[in-house]
Amino acid sequence: MNAIYLIGFMGAGKTSVSRKLAESLTVSHYDTDLEIVEAAGKSINDIFTIEGEAKFREIESAVLKTMPQYDAVIATGGGVVLAEENRRQMRSSGTVIFLYAEIGEILQRLEGDHSRPLLQENKLEAAQLLYSSRLPLYRQTAHFEIDTTSKSVSEIVKEIIVSMN
Ligand code: S3P
Repeated sequence: MNAIYLIGFMGAGKTSVSRKLAESLTVSHYDTDLEIVEAAGKSINDIFTIEGEAKFREIESAVLKTMPQYDAVIATGGGVVLAEENRRQMRSSGTVIFLYAEIGEILQRLEGDHSRPLLQENKLEAAQLLYSSRLPLYRQTAHFEIDTTSKSVSEIVKEIIVSMN
């Protein structure tokens, strides 16, 4: 099986869906955010604060290149689609699935969350701006789009498996 990349906005459920999907397909699970933390030896918030977003993106692209091309489900960070090289790499080396959720639901899911450096100030406006600028990038990168709005992780996993067959 070619690697499956899950892409989508922060709070779209990539981490929990990827874990369950990998378990259902009995393949390995990877999360690029976790790999970045390991590679940098610091938290994502610290990478952004101390080294800046550009450095984070550099590590993110480098980590993406180390991901397996077969028998794996890979959860990615919401900004992975910003770099053209990342979009090209994912599309050509695996199946890319966009987990879509309506902005209202995303905002609800991110309420009270302080782990995302890009949403520390003016959260509502920042999230809305990022969301609308990235939507076209998710859509142009993905082979499939799954609407996750109001769905459970199990329902989403089932839908992914059906749409891939
Ligand atoms: C980011 C999303 C985060 C993480 C970093 C930047 C983004 O991952 O990579 O905070 O630019 O959207 P999640 O999408 O898993 O929250």
